Order: sequence, then C-alpha cells, then structure tokens
Amino acid sequence: MIRGYVFDAYGTLFDVHSVVEAGREITADPVLLSQTWRQKQLEYTWLRALMGRYEDFWAVTEAALRFTVRRLGLTASNAQLDRLMTAYLSLACFPEVPGALARLAGRPRAVLSNGAPAMLAAAVASARIGSSLEHVISVDEVKTYKPSPAVYALGPRHLGIPAGELLFVSSNAWDVAGAKAFGYRVAWCNRSSQPPEELGVQPDLIVTRLDELPA
Ligand code: 2OP
Repeated sequence: MIRGYVFDAYGTLFDVHSVVEAGREITADPVLLSQTWRQKQLEYTWLRALMGRYEDFWAVTEAALRFTVRRLGLTASNAQLDRLMTAYLSLACFPEVPGALARLAGRPRAVLSNGAPAMLAAAVASARIGSSLEHVISVDEVKTYKPSPAVYALGPRHLGIPAGELLFVSSNAWDVAGAKAFGYRVAWCNRSSQPPEELGVQPDLIVTRLDELPA
C-alpha cells in the first residue's frame, strides 16, 4: 500500500540538460559540456561522501563545472561561469511533470535531493510546481549524499510514513538502487532507455514518464 511519494529532483523532475543552451556561449559542443559536467558533479558527491568531506551541491556543482571547462580545453570568463551556474537555478521540468504531480494529489509528495536548499527552492519556484509538493528535502540536513542510507532515512522522517509504504521515484538508476536497498518501494523512470544497473537490487516498477505512475 503506497501512502506517499518521494521524488528525486535533478534528472527526474528537472531536466539537467536544459543548461545546454547556456553552454553554447563557451563551446561548440554544449551537450558534451552538459554531460561531462553532470557526471563529474555526481562523482564529486560520491567522493566527498566517502571521504567525509561534505560541501553543499552548489559548491560541488561549481567545482565540477571548473573541472569540466579545463577537461574540455575550454576558456570561460567568471561571468560565463556564473551564467551556467545560474541556469541550474531555473532548470526546465520535464513536460509531463506538473500534470503527473497534480494527478498524485491526495497523498504526500516530497522531493528528496542532493540539491542544496536554496537550489531546490529556486528550481521548484521556477518550474512552478511548489503547490504540488508537500515537502522539499535536501541532503544538506545530514551533510552527506545519496546513496547514503542517512539520506534516504529523511523520507520516512519528514513524511512520518515507513519507507516500505513510500514510492521512491528517480530517473537515476544508481539512486533507485540506493532507495531500494534502504527499503522503499521504487519506480525507475528510465527516461533515456538505459540498461539496468548491476547493483544487486531491482526496481519494483519501470516507467518512461512520471504520468505512467499508478495514481
Ligand atoms: C538529485 O539528488 C541525484 O542529483 C540527483 O536530485
């Protein structure tokens, strides 16, 4: 019995690759910039969590951008870097998201994300989905990152519902594995037709868009 929903943010509600437009200013291949930046951002969250050297997602995202610019042999002024970072505060949400969230009204709907509180507040406001979310939860509360169990424990704590009665929804297959390992029921929103991870756990449900979730 599902009594509440917990959504990942970046990649699930928000399209992180909508920063591609801002990337056009500094590279002829903004898709490569966006993909390299996203991968390095996630790597830095995993490395900092394992090292016990937490910095918030804004700092990690900026560090990953500076690495990516160097890695791709690009040059970027501070103003150009700022414009790329600002793009992260107003990411587009995937087209079906507002309707999908509204359709699930009646049970609590939460965001549980690596995003720093101010980043999440800005993205939720920019996408105008705040009225369809009862909770917006940042890992900053526990100063570590997904897939740490300490992060997934924030869902039951904020919603007052055991993980086994919550449906965790993410497009990031590694995040799906972390939530399943913690004890949630899990839906993987496989937006980009990725193969399943080999992490010893399987999602309970696979969809390609959030409006395929059972109401
Ligand atoms: C999020 O926590 C995994 O970055 C993704 O929103």
